[in-house]
Amino acid sequence: MKALVLAGGAGTRLRPITHTSAKQLVPVANKPVLFYGLEAIRDAGITDVGIIVGDTAREVEAAIGDGTELGIKATYIPQDAPKGLAHAVLIAKDFLGDEPFVMYLGDNFLLGGITKLVEEFAQSDAAAQILLTKVSNPQSFGIAVVDDKGDVVKLVEKPKDPPSDLALVGVYMFRTPIHEAVRSIKPSARGELEITDAIQWLVDNKHSVKPHLVTGYWKDTGKLEDMLECNRAVLETMEAKNEGTVDSESKLIGRVIVEKGAVITRSIIRGPAIIGKNTKVTDTYVGPFTSIYHECELSETEIEHSIVLENTIISSVARIEDSLIGKEVEVRGSNEQPKANRFMLGDHSRVIVNQGN
Ligand code: TTP
Repeated sequence: MKALVLAGGAGTRLRPITHTSAKQLVPVANKPVLFYGLEAIRDAGITDVGIIVGDTAREVEAAIGDGTELGIKATYIPQDAPKGLAHAVLIAKDFLGDEPFVMYLGDNFLLGGITKLVEEFAQSDAAAQILLTKVSNPQSFGIAVVDDKGDVVKLVEKPKDPPSDLALVGVYMFRTPIHEAVRSIKPSARGELEITDAIQWLVDNKHSVKPHLVTGYWKDTGKLEDMLECNRAVLETMEAKNEGTVDSESKLIGRVIVEKGAVITRSIIRGPAIIGKNTKVTDTYVGPFTSIYHECELSETEIEHSIVLENTIISSVARIEDSLIGKEVEVRGSNEQPKANRFMLGDHSRVIVNQGN
């Protein structure tokens, strides 16, 4: 069995981060979200992994390399534009050959891995197995209808009037009929080759499509709120560990992970939280559900329920919450006259300034 991991796409919902970076590499609890998927694939015994890459190919390739460190063999498959999930299957045909494969969306996060699902699919003779999860807002998802016999009979993309509350999770398993399906469908109204249309083609052409209900935690991290929620869920599962330097005036409360080379001075870190390699935290409060990545500098500030990427400086800012802050960003408080907010923000940035400051 092979795996096809999708790490291209436009990432419009995570701008401006995605203007310069791959959304699949945003760290969740200080590990790129994509790595969780690759590890789940490896743990399921699949090592031959094709990775679809787009504009951010160079960054993705730099992070994964040939895959040895993650225990996989990575083959990169460039996609000239984000033409849809089914388009990714279409261009991966040479890599996939006639082997069954698992397709994994690189920005999806599934707690508990995929080993059981892969085993279940290996023992079945279904043309496809799709993962489904109950959601409260089916209008926002691809939705599947399952009949009394336990077969998938219909798929609809973001239905106004949802026929069920079973949403498609971003992990799919396929056998060879999917190749004819992706060749047979036409682009949707938004101009993409939709995987839901390809699976519907399988159903319409009498191929068996089986559902697998996911009860564990699943998240599509395509939006800020979801990224923060996922970060929260992963931090909750981690154990406290201190590999850095924490002075006697600092307090680590609850599950706090301090990575190698990090220096905590006169600060309070209330877990669950993680402080990355070589990051300096001075005279600062870091609150629950916060991940500060490597080589950052935080001083005289308060931050909670946020993700900060590498090489970022935050100093003398009253309180930051619910935020995703990119690489090499500077956020500084100032008492200079005239009292004004000063910004240099990239396109599509979002800033909420507290009026009380
Ligand atoms: P999406 O999140 O559905 O699409 P997107 O990345 O273009 O994001 P947005 O909607 O915010 O603009 O994609 C799911 C995953 O599949 C994600 O990891 C990107 C990847 N992908 C590709 O590799 N190729 C594609 O053609 C598309 C549409 C997505």
